Amino acid sequence: MDKKNLSIKEIAEISGVSVATVSRVINQNGRFSKETEKKVLEVIKNNNNKTNLVAKSLRMKQTNTIGVIVPDIKNEFFASIVSEIEEYFFEEENYTVFICNSNGEKEKELDYLASLDSKGVDGLIYISGYDDTLHTSVRRNIPVVCIDRKPKENNEVAIIESDNLDGGYQATSLLIEKGCKNIVILKSEKDTSTNLDRFEGYRKAIEESSNHLNEELIISLKKTHFNYAKDAINKLIEKNIKFDGIFAINDWLALGALYALKDNNFKIPDEVKIVGFDNVSISKYSYPNITTVNQNKKLMGRTAAKTLLDLINNKQTKNKIHTKLPIDIVYRSTT
Ligand code: RIB
Repeated sequence: MDKKNLSIKEIAEISGVSVATVSRVINQNGRFSKETEKKVLEVIKNNNNKTNLVAKSLRMKQTNTIGVIVPDIKNEFFASIVSEIEEYFFEEENYTVFICNSNGEKEKELDYLASLDSKGVDGLIYISGYDDTLHTSVRRNIPVVCIDRKPKENNEVAIIESDNLDGGYQATSLLIEKGCKNIVILKSEKDTSTNLDRFEGYRKAIEESSNHLNEELIISLKKTHFNYAKDAINKLIEKNIKFDGIFAINDWLALGALYALKDNNFKIPDEVKIVGFDNVSISKYSYPNITTVNQNKKLMGRTAAKTLLDLINNKQTKNKIHTKLPIDIVYRSTT
């Protein structure tokens, strides 16, 4: 009978143990009883699985580990992507995943990149990183996949991102279709690719509708956090600057704007309409709930994981892979 290749998850289910235990038995490291080992090896032997896993690991002199660097693990957008990556590598490919949370601090990112490199990881996934760190801190020639923000310097790494320009364009076009004439953009002051592309989409939609960009309505913030948006909208109101639409480049900024408008008794969406970006849970559970640009976080995580695994298996360290995932608008009460 042609034996099918079971995934780690399937081996675990059949053996009645956890995925982590199966991984320990295959890699022969960590705790497990003789009885468990016998049970697991029995399942693997019957499914012609162990040869492949162990042989592959020996042949490729791999450590079967990868590193993930994320700027803010507390941010649901990044957390959703990281958990997808971890699940794919651990459960389907028997890899250990080192997850490093840098809090967006450049020095910390540099340290993590260097220590993951010295740990001998087979590859790296770098989420929303700085533009110029990769080639300075990764010594070995290992494959790297970037998610979300494109590094300017190092254009030989794979990039997986959403179509941020289209996201900004569709968000702003929706506000224009709903009758908005004076649309604020709440963006970052940094020149990250996601920020620049979303702004470009906003600009394109405004100019195509024969409106003109009004510099007073372009708000560049030091941090893309809730309070910065709330304060910025309060300032516009204090200065009596007229606006009837807000495009925020992430959902936390949209929520901050919403709070400022509600504090000043604006009617939403009648007087001011809002569109956010990311489609994280705060946009769904806020009141009123927030129309937003959905980034397919699950697909982003899986695509990055599969891309990295291909590069590892093909021992390909340089590439020009650039995957742009489509966005879609989630229509809710703020428009
Ligand atoms: O919320 C985090 C934001 O920064 C997301 O929009 C993501 O795309 C990143 O650029």
